[in-house]
Order: sequence, then C-alpha cells, then structure tokens
Amino acid sequence: MEQYVIKGGNPLVGEVEIAGAKNAALPIISAAIMTDETVTLENLPDVNDVNVLLESISGIGAHVERIDRHTVKINGSTIRDCSVEYEYIRKIRASYYLLGALLGKYNKAEVPLPGGCNIGSRPIDQHLKGFRAIGAKVDIKNGTILASCHHMTGAHIFMDVVSVGATINIMMAASRAVGRTTIENAAKEPHVVDVANFLNSMGANIKGAGTDVIRIVGVPRFHGCTYAIVPDMIEAGTFMMAAAATKGDIVVKNVIPKHMEAVSAKLLEIGCEVEEFDDSIRVVAAKRLIRTHIKTQPYPGYPTDMQPQIAVVLALSRGTSIVTESIFENRFKYVDELTRMGANVKVEGNTAIIDGVPGFTGARISSPDLRAGAALVIAALQAEGISVVDDIGYILRGYEDFDGKLRSLGAEIEMVSSEKEIEKFKLRIG
Ligand code: UD1
Repeated sequence: MEQYVIKGGNPLVGEVEIAGAKNAALPIISAAIMTDETVTLENLPDVNDVNVLLESISGIGAHVERIDRHTVKINGSTIRDCSVEYEYIRKIRASYYLLGALLGKYNKAEVPLPGGCNIGSRPIDQHLKGFRAIGAKVDIKNGTILASCHHMTGAHIFMDVVSVGATINIMMAASRAVGRTTIENAAKEPHVVDVANFLNSMGANIKGAGTDVIRIVGVPRFHGCTYAIVPDMIEAGTFMMAAAATKGDIVVKNVIPKHMEAVSAKLLEIGCEVEEFDDSIRVVAAKRLIRTHIKTQPYPGYPTDMQPQIAVVLALSRGTSIVTESIFENRFKYVDELTRMGANVKVEGNTAIIDGVPGFTGARISSPDLRAGAALVIAALQAEGISVVDDIGYILRGYEDFDGKLRSLGAEIEMVSSEKEIEKFKLRIG
C-alpha cells in the first residue's frame, strides 16, 4: 500500500498547473458513449477515478483510445451490453452516471447500486425520481438498479434537494427524451455547466445550466465532438489552502477565478493576499492568519469538498473558528488525525469548533477520504518533523501527481510503499 512520507516546515512557493476537473470528467466520459460517433476529450485529469471509469466503459464494449496522458478518444458504437459490472461501481460511486447515459441512449441500464461512502450516507433517490418522471421504470433488484422504458417523455421535475449528481444524470437522460424537460432547484456547480456545454456540443438542446432552472428539449441523436474539460476548482483550492497553511506564495495556473470566489473570499477574510489574473490566482500568506466561520453550501456557496482543507488552515489561525458541514453527515473523520498532530478541534454534530494553534507536529496519520486526505497532507507540510500519511489510495483517486506538484513548490514529500523506504527518506532528509 502506498503512503506519503513528508517532512514539514517549508513554505510552499512557486507556480502549479491545475488539471481538468475530475467531477466534470466523470459524467462527461459517461455521456460520451451516448453517440455512435467518436468523441475526443481533452484536459482529462490522469487520476484513478477517471481511469477506472474508462475501464468500465471499455468493459461494456465502448472503444477507448488514449492519445496522450490527458486526451482520449471514445467511440460508443460498439457497446454490446447495458449492464455494468459491480467490480467497477465498487471502486467509484460516480459510475452511477452510466445510468443516465445508457438510459438516454438505449432506453435501458443496469448499474449496481453504489456502495456506502466514507463521508456519510449518499442516497440516490433524486436521480431515480427524475428517471421515473421522464417515463422510466426503475427497480432495485439484488443490489442493482434496473432502469428501462419504451420511450422517454419530457417532464417538469422539482428536485427535493440540490444534488449535483441527480441534476447531471437527469440532464443526460432527458436530453434524449421526446419533448421538453424542466429541472427546478437544479445544482449550479461549474461541472454541471461543463456537462451541459459538452452535451450541447454533441447536439443536445440544454439551456439554463448554472442557474437553478434547467430547460431541456430532447433530440433524437447526438454526434461526435472534441471537448476540453473545465479546470478543477477543488484541486486549485487545495493548493491555495496549501499556500495559506505553510505561509507560502503560490500561483495556481489554468483556473477560472470566478469558480474560486467563495474560497478566495474566505482566504482574504482570514488575512491572505489573493490576486486574480485572467486564468490564474496568486495566494500569499505573509503572516499568521486569523479566525473565521465557514458553512458549506451548494455552489456558489463555500464547497463541502474544500471543508477539510480550510479547517486545517483555521486550526493554525489565531482565535476560535466554527466550521459547519451542511451537505454530508460524516465529513469530520479527519479531526482525530489532526488532533494527533496537535490541533485543538472539537466536533459537535455537524459543527467543528477550532481553537487555532501556532503549529503542528508530525505524526503517523491515515487518510479517511479523498479531500480529507489532501487536507492532512497540507497539515503534514506545515508540521514540524516527519509525518507518514497512510491510505493515500483515496487521494490518488482525485489528485493528479499530487506529490510531484507539491515537490515542485518546495515540499519534501515522497510516495513510498514500505517501512524501508520511509527509513531511507528519513536518513536522506536528516
Ligand atoms: C458531488 C461530488 C462531490 C461533492 C458533492 C457536493 C462528484 C463525483 N462528486 O457528489 O465531490 O462533494 O457533489 O458538491 O461530482 N442527495 C439526496 N438524494 C440524492 C442525491 C443527493 O438526498 O438522490 C443529498 C446528498 O446526501 C447530499 C446532497 O444531496 O446531502 C448533495 O449531494 P450531491 O450534490 O448529489 O453529491 P454527489 O453528486 O454525490
């Protein structure tokens, strides 16, 4: 099992190039099989979740050709099976996007119900409600979702909760239904907009993505296209927090500053300098930062996927901060690990009360999920001495070359897979 070994204490300084957004890439890869013509996807992040999804569409017969690290050609004309293997879905929750894609194209999909997740229960009732509204029959049998219909008809759908996944899934299927669909109380995240733009590039007729009402007029078929995935706002935000935590100076490049507004505003509020350019942002933390309160919300609010990273920064900031997690129920699992590094954090229900300390000390810690894992790496980069981060498989699901990018900013971090390699790192670093 791979681990990161880290010697903390260096301020991170320099420029870092941000990859394409994983959370846009996953639905876009799924949607790419909805045409029999070839789709070329550019700026795909080379992360495990994306690679597993590419394997899973190959598994049902799609032709996948990797042109280079960030470009693939997908052709869905050879799909012979609308039934996705459990092996794939077990590894990535987002293969539920194949439900919307297969249903939209073939009027039939069989996808195993995604397993539990480390950040709490993740129901998909809103996805199923949407499919049923446009005429699909949806059953759950032996742990698999079976969706089918003779033909889909547009409908008026009001989402009970704001859900990124359900909005995208319904948008995909409804794009091929007969007539008009309206999704009210839709999610407004940049990746929802990116998927809508992609579907429109394939011939769909979707308007309003990025607002809370999305209007879709179904079309009978899609065609091939070439499309570049939007930059990853969460990867960008993670490096911005790394600058804040290590008193560094980082320019994140290839970002859309507008997508980062909630994160930038909080960094400014706690005392960072934040400079925006056309497609990059510079974050400088010259002095000790100060407390604030955070509440996670759907976009354009502060993102839940940036909650653990800012909690690490606040755990180093002067004063008492309160962080409220309002999207997922179990997203403070990293707090015990952070406490072992010297942080002073108390969790009560969905709230963390954080009393800032001047610094952390290195420890052996374990990554409980993707974003919390990245946050613990940031903590280790600030900590005095050596830390070992276990279970980094989670981090590799969503961050491309995380250790390489951090090294280029001056971090002392290595990916290792044995105690011997950890000892070697310690001897070398001294
Ligand atoms: C996506 C992101 C995830 C991010 C989350 C919120 C991907 C692959 N993952 O997850 O990184 O943290 O958006 O920005 O893009 N809910 C229901 N019923 C449903 C669907 C959702 O009750 O059918 C609830 C969830 O439990 C949660 C809230 O709605 O409380 C938001 O979830 P949702 O936006 O659907 O998250 P995901 O799409 O799974």
